[in-house]
Amino acid sequence: MNQPGRIEFHDLHSSRDEFARDVVEGLAKKPASIPPKYFYDAKGSKLFDAITDLPEYYPTRTEIKLLTRHAEEIAQQVGTGSLLVEPGGGSCAKVHILLQGLKPCAYVPMDISRDHLQMAAQELAAQFPWLEIHAACTDFTRQMHLPPTAPTGTRVAFFPGSSIGNFDPVGAVDFLRSIASLVGDQGYLLIGVDLKKDRHLLEAAYDDAAGVTADFNRNLLARINRELTGNFELSQWQHRAFYNEDEGRIEMHLQSRCAQKVTVTGQDFHFAAGESIHTENSYKYSVAEFIELAAQAGFSSRRAWSDEQQLFSVQLFQVEVTR
Ligand code: AVJ
Repeated sequence: MNQPGRIEFHDLHSSRDEFARDVVEGLAKKPASIPPKYFYDAKGSKLFDAITDLPEYYPTRTEIKLLTRHAEEIAQQVGTGSLLVEPGGGSCAKVHILLQGLKPCAYVPMDISRDHLQMAAQELAAQFPWLEIHAACTDFTRQMHLPPTAPTGTRVAFFPGSSIGNFDPVGAVDFLRSIASLVGDQGYLLIGVDLKKDRHLLEAAYDDAAGVTADFNRNLLARINRELTGNFELSQWQHRAFYNEDEGRIEMHLQSRCAQKVTVTGQDFHFAAGESIHTENSYKYSVAEFIELAAQAGFSSRRAWSDEQQLFSVQLFQVEVTR
């Protein structure tokens, strides 16, 4: 049943209740907040893909350049025949750069967005008929288990896109620890990390001229309306994105343009004019800061690559063997 080139789907994910609970809990808090993982319904995933093509959004194209440039060196370090796992790998967009060199025994993309994952995995399977794919629909911020039928081998976690930036530094260490236990002793982590830089460059990347990021942010409210019988008036919420230098993070908010009441799953929430819902943090690091963070999770730095302008880094770590 588990032939190379075949895709297996594993639904390891529960959901609508959790979404409802997180939203109701988050809207009741002062200040209100909603976890950024809920951006990615089908519409949100499409909008995110559009963000990655924006002239202002440098991370994606810079990371692709770095991965392409150093793919051979990465393969030399890690070796072939590994089990390649990608938490959040819903669009399978970057892994193809590594496949020719790495020749993994199997690829395990894990993502919360089932339809997106399914389509992307099918496309990848058509492009790489020799590749065994185990697509796992799962929320990696809650748990990470390999599908029970996944083959064994040196494990390599691939976590591109600076998705690590959504965690605060303490949460990032916890998450990196869970990756360390997923890949095991001597397992690898190849991770994309966005770098600290001039605030104008950072802020433009999260508040683009075409307004795609604003649509992406507001789609969260549209999704709540669709799935949780909400009545957010989208035009009454303003997209805000700014660099909080003290915290080293971009913050995204949706700011209420007026005093208003919103109802979600039968519950009322009141917002004053100017009050906002915090929808995302995107932490930025220096290469040295990130190496120190990863060390707290048991990872040793093997390599760190960055572009000429120091916009973005791709870093390779290995779980330190302590015994
Ligand atoms: C997917 C979390 C890496 O922080 O740059 C892009 C999400 N939000 N534009 C990022 C995002 C607004 C993105 N990550």
